[in-house]
Amino acid sequence: MLLADWDISGKHVLITGASAGIGKATARDLAERGAVLTLAGRSEHKTRQVIEEIAAGGGTARFLQIDLASPSSVMEAAEEFLSLRQPLNVLINNAGVGGTKGITPEGFELAFGTNHLGHHLLTRWLEPLLIESSPARLIVVSSSVHHNVKSIKWRRLQRRTSSPLGNPEYRTSKLANILDARRWAQRFEGTGVDVHIVHPGLVASEIWRDLPLPLRRMFANKGQSIEEGADTSIWAATSPELDGVSGRYYGKRTEKRISDLAADADLADQMWDRTEEWLSDWLPLG
Ligand SMILES: NC(=O)c1ccc[n+]([C@@H]2O[C@H](COP(=O)([O-])OP(=O)(O)OC[C@H]3O[C@@H](n4cnc5c(N)ncnc54)[C@H](OP(=O)(O)O)[C@@H]3O)[C@@H](O)[C@H]2O)c1
Repeated sequence: MLLADWDISGKHVLITGASAGIGKATARDLAERGAVLTLAGRSEHKTRQVIEEIAAGGGTARFLQIDLASPSSVMEAAEEFLSLRQPLNVLINNAGVGGTKGITPEGFELAFGTNHLGHHLLTRWLEPLLIESSPARLIVVSSSVHHNVKSIKWRRLQRRTSSPLGNPEYRTSKLANILDARRWAQRFEGTGVDVHIVHPGLVASEIWRDLPLPLRRMFANKGQSIEEGADTSIWAATSPELDGVSGRYYGKRTEKRISDLAADADLADQMWDRTEEWLSDWLPLG
């Protein structure tokens, strides 16, 4: 199996949100394949436990402090990573919140601010390094729930989560992930950087921790393990058959259809332009 992989051994991989869940399972697997990992997370304590586990198995991983809900934290994390002067062959934008209500310090709905804005900003900062390190991959962890969004309520993106369980806001953030990833695929065309969008399937992870107990129980019973959930991310990061293919969406290692909204190029432009405007104080110069 290892021989058939896009050779990840010795390649530099940055994963957001590897302290738990799908990100943690992805990190453990890629470390076993010899990738040199940076695990970017908000909880140093939790992430260091994963790093120790990886080191005990002979793998290499370092910690990078990042709070994706805070643009200045994202900018500082990117600057710190760039100061290491090492390549970046795979960026896995995995971290996420769902079903947690709140607002970011800059006034964005929590899931949108974390899942979309934080990752957009991180990718903007790391874009030149990905290109310089090509062949490279950007993996965007989205979700099939983006299919349930009928329209983007723009004003709701700039206020506290208003729905009872935060589900519509979470779905919108996952739609934003796809719109953004498809724009990234266009932007990276001809650079050797491919973009792969993945849906992990329903996973019994920590992401549902703020939902009411009956829902949490249902997700825990019906969800796959974190290792099963990580499978498509790992495949997208390592599979040779995806070389030169970009901007497509996969579940269970198979290309899947995205919603009409997610395929809407005008909406993707609108999302990109608004995102750039909202993040203008933190974007890299040039
Ligand atoms: N679970 C599912 O059924 C499912 C289905 C479809 C898609 N997904 C997607 O899969 C991805 C991973 O989710 P998961 O299920 O593995 O969830 P999880 O177990 O809750 O893990 C989420 C990770 O994101 C990190 N994170 C959250 N907020 C952050 C922030 N502000 N800054 C930096 N890191 C932050 C968490 O850190 P802490 O440990 O500090 O909280 C954790 O490491 C998400 O993008 C999610 O939308 C999940």
